[in-house]
Amino acid sequence: MKVIAFGASTSSTSINKALATYAANLIEGAEVKILDINDYQVPMFSEDKEKEIGQAEGAQAFLRDLAEADAFVISFAEHNGHHPAAFKNLFDWATRIERSVYGEKPAVYLATSPGPGGAQNVLGAATGSAPYFGGNVKASVSVPSFYDNFDFEAGSISNEEIAAQIKDAVAKL
Ligand SMILES: Cc1cc2nc3c(=O)[nH]c(=O)nc-3n(C[C@H](O)[C@H](O)[C@H](O)COP(=O)(O)O)c2cc1C
Repeated sequence: MKVIAFGASTSSTSINKALATYAANLIEGAEVKILDINDYQVPMFSEDKEKEIGQAEGAQAFLRDLAEADAFVISFAEHNGHHPAAFKNLFDWATRIERSVYGEKPAVYLATSPGPGGAQNVLGAATGSAPYFGGNVKASVSVPSFYDNFDFEAGSISNEEIAAQIKDAVAKL
C-alpha cells in the first residue's frame, strides 16, 4: 500500500507535517511518501487568473502526486478557524481541474495546534466537506497542545491515550 502523507501547511517547521509523518509511518508494510505543499507553487486564485493561465502547473503536479496514493494521511493546520490560505488556494486550483481531489481513496484526517483546541475547527470543516472532494475519511483525530504531547527527538506522540487513538485510526486504512 502506498500512503501519501502531508501537513496542509506551508510552514517549514509544520507541526502538522510532523504529525502526518509520524502517523503514516505507523502503518506496517506501507510505502510512505511525504509531500511538501511548498513544492506546488500556484498564483492567487481568481477566475480572471484562471482565464489567463488555464490550469495552474502546481495544482496539476499536486493532483499527479495524489493520484499515486492508495491511501492518505493528512494533518490540517488551522489559521483563524480555517485552512491556511496557501493550502486553500492550492486546493481551489486543484478542484478546478478535478473535483474529486482525493479520488475516494481511504484517508485518515488529523489536525493539531499548540493550543488546547487542537485545530478542531478546521478538522471539522475538512471532514464535513470531504465527500464533495472524493475524501473517504475512515477516521479523524485532533491532537491538542502539540508541544506537550509530541516528543520531537523521538518523532512520536508521547501521550499514550492520543498515541492509541492515532494507531487505531491508521489501522482503518
Ligand atoms: C494567522 C494564524 C492564525 C492562527 N489561528 C489559529 C486558530 O484559529 N486555531 C489554532 O488552534 N491555532 C491557530 N494558529 C496557530 C497554529 O495552530 C500554529 O501556528 C500551528 O503551528 C500551525 O500548524 P503548522 O505548524 O502545521 O503550520 C494560528 C496561527 C497563525 C499564524
